[in-house]
Amino acid sequence: MSALASPTPEESPRLPAKTRAQIDAIRERYPTARALLLPALHLAQKLHGGWLPESAIEAVATELELDPAEVYGVVTFYDLYHQRPVGRHRIRVCTNVSCMLRGSDEIMSALHQELKVKEGEVTDDGRCSFIHFECLGSCDTAPMMMINDEYHENLTPREAQRVVRELK
Ligand code: FES
Repeated sequence: MSALASPTPEESPRLPAKTRAQIDAIRERYPTARALLLPALHLAQKLHGGWLPESAIEAVATELELDPAEVYGVVTFYDLYHQRPVGRHRIRVCTNVSCMLRGSDEIMSALHQELKVKEGEVTDDGRCSFIHFECLGSCDTAPMMMINDEYHENLTPREAQRVVRELK
């Protein structure tokens, strides 16, 4: 079934009872189902190990009685939601102008060599995945990458490899 189709109630996927209870526990804090959508998606994403399969997106829509197309639109808009598996450590390499001029391509290559996966793939041990990204607002310390919530700046390829090697 397409993410954009509205399933009938009988065929709608449901979230597990525990996740529905977690959503119920915070429901009062949000004035509308739309306002509750972002935290509900976070809970569903956590349930699925850090990403949102199509069934989870539909289940959130069912739970909040929202149109699946609307929920899907929110998921695709925000970088914090993932539609494919990601590593425990999410690495974002800025490849915008300042970083590109100062060697972001070499940083990407160094990560590929060190992690032995391509951009967007997850290492066999589930530890890391990396992607290129738009400007992360640290242009004066280019090239840089962000690992989870932490910035690593003024990188060299060797330094980038050292940093990811030490991730547990
Ligand atoms: S261009 Fe890389 S942080 Fe702005």
